[in-house]
Amino acid sequence: MRSRMASVVRRTGAATSSLQSPLSAPAVVSRCLVHCDDLLQQQRFYGSAVTNEEAYSRVEKSHATWPRQLNTPLSELDPEIWDIIEKEKNRQWKGLELIPSENFTSLSVMEAVGSVMTNKYSEGYPGARYYGGNDLGHSIFVRSLREWLRVSFPQAAVLEHMEEISASRVFEAVALLVLRGDLVEFGYFVNVQSLSGSPANFQVYTALLKPHDRIMALDLPHGGHLSHGYQTDTKKISATSIFFETMPYRLDEQTGYIDYDQMEKSAVLFRPKLIVAGASAYSRNIDYERMRKVADKHKAVLLADMAHISGLVSAGVVPSPFEYSDIVMTTTHKSLRGPRGAMIFFRKGVKGVDKNGKEIKYDFEEKINFSVFPGLQGGPHNHTIAGLAVALKQCATPEYKAYQKQVVENCARFAKALIARGYDLVSGGTDNHLVLVDLKKKGVDGSRAERVMELAHIAANKNTVPGDVSAMVPGGIRMGKPVIFYSLHWRKQVT
Ligand SMILES: Cc1ncc(COP(=O)(O)O)c(C=O)c1O
Repeated sequence: MRSRMASVVRRTGAATSSLQSPLSAPAVVSRCLVHCDDLLQQQRFYGSAVTNEEAYSRVEKSHATWPRQLNTPLSELDPEIWDIIEKEKNRQWKGLELIPSENFTSLSVMEAVGSVMTNKYSEGYPGARYYGGNDLGHSIFVRSLREWLRVSFPQAAVLEHMEEISASRVFEAVALLVLRGDLVEFGYFVNVQSLSGSPANFQVYTALLKPHDRIMALDLPHGGHLSHGYQTDTKKISATSIFFETMPYRLDEQTGYIDYDQMEKSAVLFRPKLIVAGASAYSRNIDYERMRKVADKHKAVLLADMAHISGLVSAGVVPSPFEYSDIVMTTTHKSLRGPRGAMIFFRKGVKGVDKNGKEIKYDFEEKINFSVFPGLQGGPHNHTIAGLAVALKQCATPEYKAYQKQVVENCARFAKALIARGYDLVSGGTDNHLVLVDLKKKGVDGSRAERVMELAHIAANKNTVPGDVSAMVPGGIRMGKPVIFYSLHWRKQVT
């Protein structure tokens, strides 16, 4: 108990007010161990207006040296790591960040991620936790979300819905009503516990498929992602390909666009149970409607992996996958501009009617939640979920929408400038936040280009382009604009 208290002693020399409120609040004290002498002693001790120095010297008399250590800033406690972080900050600030899967998250998100929420276990789901002490976190979310929703979603129905989401549900409901209201309109619910994009995709497969069921997705060398399945002639590289059977669809090498006709033909032979619509290195909008038709033909689930574009989707500057998908997965740290994590949106409610007119309901909720926890994870990362709430609050602001619009406009200008300088772009341009440059005609490969750019303090990444045989020495370079927008100076120069 003592060490836990010590970890929240304030760093300033001021009175320890952060401790007073939780411990002096009658509700908390009555609920927590009223008869515990230790707790009451601490309440007396920390409740008095002592400086940190006084507090340390008092506890150090009883040989408790750890409170001081627990409250020592990083720069003093571990200068080596502090120095590395400072250098990285410097690199991010001074260099040009052109990696389309990266972003600079906001100060407020970083505050939430670096907060005491990292201390808290809350395995389970709202109303069914394996740990006590989760009420405070919930009520913080309820308050901030209510305020935000009143501004962003004034429709009464939405507010009523929010009222329904009682305090104990908000941890996971936090993202329910963002992303342009699509979630409400198309009846989605969300799990925000998933730790990152690859595990989230695996959680979806595990929830909805049996081992060795069939998945179709964009081939990795054509812009897909490892977590959609990847294997070479000799080895299954992605666990998705180990535990499930995967069949890629590809780009039309002439146009650089997804070859939907070929995908449709392959699907007839392969009969997939799940089709993934989404990419890591595809600069064009995806035809979700078309993919829905293919999925329907084979009674397959359509999973939209919008990891790269969710920020653009939430601002309405690229087409949204929600209308046509069954499941939508996104990471939260790319264009969305939040903390590192993921969200899995799934349809809930009525799917249709059977031939007798009886309602058929989606059965995703229980399966997906179970697959995330206890299937493949333990305790949720509450600091990340707190950061995500903060990031999603920003999604509803005009500043955020303007930023995402600018990202797409900058990228279009960037594509034009590259073409004018004689570079080949896969698909000949871009609709979103990234460009994929085919360097073959320039007589250089992506690895070398990446290294030379790095030496000039420009961070981009090598990428396979159609026709490549090696992923290690690919023929292209992928560049994107979510970060670069922050430098107004650069913005003027890209044209
Ligand atoms: C389309 C897509 N899905 C999933 C992922 C995996 O995300 P993570 O790196 O968080 O596992 C990525 C990462 O780049 C991605 O681009």
